[in-house]
Amino acid sequence: MPSTNTGPASRGLKGRDLLSLADLGSADVASILDAAERLKRAQDAELPHALLPARTLGMLFEKASLRTRTTFVVGMAHLGGQAVDLMAEHTQMGVRESVPDIARNLERWVDAVMARVYDQNVLEELAENSRVPIINGLSDRFHPCQVLADLLTLRERFGSLAGRTLAYVGDGFNVCHSLMLGSALTGMHVRIGTPPGYEPDPDIVDQARRIAGGSGGTVELFSSAEAAVHEADAVYTDSWVSMGLEEERAERVAAFAPFQVNAALMAGAAPDAVFMHCLPAHRGEEVTDEVMDGPQSVVFDQAENRLHVQKALLVLLIRGEAALQTLPS
Ligand code: CP
Ligand code: NVA
Repeated sequence: MPSTNTGPASRGLKGRDLLSLADLGSADVASILDAAERLKRAQDAELPHALLPARTLGMLFEKASLRTRTTFVVGMAHLGGQAVDLMAEHTQMGVRESVPDIARNLERWVDAVMARVYDQNVLEELAENSRVPIINGLSDRFHPCQVLADLLTLRERFGSLAGRTLAYVGDGFNVCHSLMLGSALTGMHVRIGTPPGYEPDPDIVDQARRIAGGSGGTVELFSSAEAAVHEADAVYTDSWVSMGLEEERAERVAAFAPFQVNAALMAGAAPDAVFMHCLPAHRGEEVTDEVMDGPQSVVFDQAENRLHVQKALLVLLIRGEAALQTLPS
């Protein structure tokens, strides 16, 4: 569906795409998190919540996945629908068939498409040529579904988000970009610590700062991990070598070594700070076992919340807010 950016007021999510969190307003994020909490409670109480009967989600993965693949498949099953794996080796986007033609086929069969791609432009091209919602399941630029789960995890832990401080240390890449936007949309203060040369994209920093200007949040960049995490409520990191960047492994491991999240670094955060990671983790690189397995770690809560937040997203994008009426609030 052609992308139309929104301001802070929610105009409903039905029929829209999620290519970046910047596609959403603050009210949209709140409505997704609220719906996710309701669906999570319904699931925990074993209440029926088959809100997408006979609906289908097409899933396209150009890169590996555990969490994204499993949570979308399980989520559609819980909702009474089905996820169809489009198998990248068969679809061969842009090789066997053009991206627009693939979109024009898919919209005739499925109710939404979730795609994990190398290039954000492919998502844009799918969205421009599809009448059904396109969901970004990770690109070179963003990981919006992950960050919605992260915001839900933080809201569960702290009760509210506005005014909290999230520190991200490591690579200023896709997860970092979405964290800046998600923090800005929810009025959080985000502090990014990266080595030189690995800073987040300046255009996305500017975009996040514009959004933060309207929400009371802030976006700050640091060149030291210690400065970024100082008294933060959450310390977040991601892999130093993202998928597709494996050839840069040696230089990246050397550059990121001072940005490892270990007990000494966590000691500089707030005493009740949580440790967060999108996973998969590379233990002994960006995070030590001690932190990953320690009492501050919420990494598996984040992974669980991928399921709940994506169920909410699917219902809201495919059927809209009205479909939630049968759920207890
Ligand atoms: N965090 C995340 O997206 O995990 P997967 O790569 O396993 O899907
Ligand atoms: N930055 C990582 C995130 C994986 C979920 C990558 O792109 O590989």
